[in-house]
Amino acid sequence: MRILGIETSCDDTGAAIYDSHQGLIVHRLASQVDLHQPYGGVVPELAARDHIRVLLPLIDSLIKDPVNDAKKLDAVAYTAGPGLVGALLVGASLGKSLAQSWGVPAIGIHHMEGHLLSPMLEDSPPAFPFLALLVSGGHTLLVDVEAAGNYKILGQSVDDAAGEAFDKTAKLLGLDYPGGPAIAKAAAGGDANRFTFPRPMTNRPGLDFSFSGLKTHTLTTAQKHHLDEQTIADIALAFEIAVADTLKIKCSRALSQTRRKRLVVAGGVGANQRLRATLQKFADQNEVRLFYPRAEFCTDNGAMIAYAGCFRLALAGLATGEPAVNAHANTCAFDVHPRWSLEDIESPPG
Ligand code: KG4
Ligand code: ZN
Repeated sequence: MRILGIETSCDDTGAAIYDSHQGLIVHRLASQVDLHQPYGGVVPELAARDHIRVLLPLIDSLIKDPVNDAKKLDAVAYTAGPGLVGALLVGASLGKSLAQSWGVPAIGIHHMEGHLLSPMLEDSPPAFPFLALLVSGGHTLLVDVEAAGNYKILGQSVDDAAGEAFDKTAKLLGLDYPGGPAIAKAAAGGDANRFTFPRPMTNRPGLDFSFSGLKTHTLTTAQKHHLDEQTIADIALAFEIAVADTLKIKCSRALSQTRRKRLVVAGGVGANQRLRATLQKFADQNEVRLFYPRAEFCTDNGAMIAYAGCFRLALAGLATGEPAVNAHANTCAFDVHPRWSLEDIESPPG
């Protein structure tokens, strides 16, 4: 099966073609960073309009790419949620329209399942079961993954997501959007001995996260100092270390609780080198195997949606014994789910 994957849940227009036998054929991404940068964050209406402008030519370029030697595509997968409603509607409407005109099934994919399965695109994918730490701009989740499609949320953020904390902290330090890479760049010149920031919610039991207190701590520290380049670097470093350490402590707890020996880290913050180094050190000391997608598949992309679509269509086909067709496939309703829990993946909110 050769499937087109479409990702438009936020500020990246992603598309990819994945083949169930040959793996990833081709993928492309159009970033909207320059568009949103002047506003210091994503402007939903601008995001939707830019997806409309970019998506069809992007898909066209993939289909016409010489590496795509198939005469036709067998299915279309698009991100159905969670995400920005206007942005989601662009991918859903174009994905369904293309599927209908080609006479193939369309399937709506949960964005976080896309992230969770993204390490499967790599050469040494994790075997099941595993623990997944999903750290994106909108969500921070610790998920026990018994098998593909079998997800139990063990912990999540009660306020800001990890990526959101990076973005807001960068903004208050006068750094660029998106904040994650900007904080990481500034932190590279920081002095680790100058500030020590709290590790929120680590001194009590439980696997939930909270990052808004850390953001406030960063703000009060910033207000007490003259923000020269060195001070910004020192604060960025203290913040980055605190986030990495907090995530490590929660992963360690969840691994002990579940007795899993494999840890998958995905989502935009998973591209953070300090987080990777912190988790790698912990993994090496505890005989845990660590799995990541390559950095470009940590952040939003079409490849993970195409992969998840392939998995979901195969599952639907196997479950019914019929050719794989999504329940919503050939209706004209553009059903997207801006809020949608990974645990309700089979029954999205109406
Ligand atoms: O997964 P993603 O691309 O989009 C969502 O699903 O939200 O994650 C985007 C988030 C942003 O908050 C961005 O600041 C963060 O991932 N991010 C990073 C890095 N690269 C992206 N955070 C820390 N370090 C990075 N290198
Ligand atoms: Zn994402």
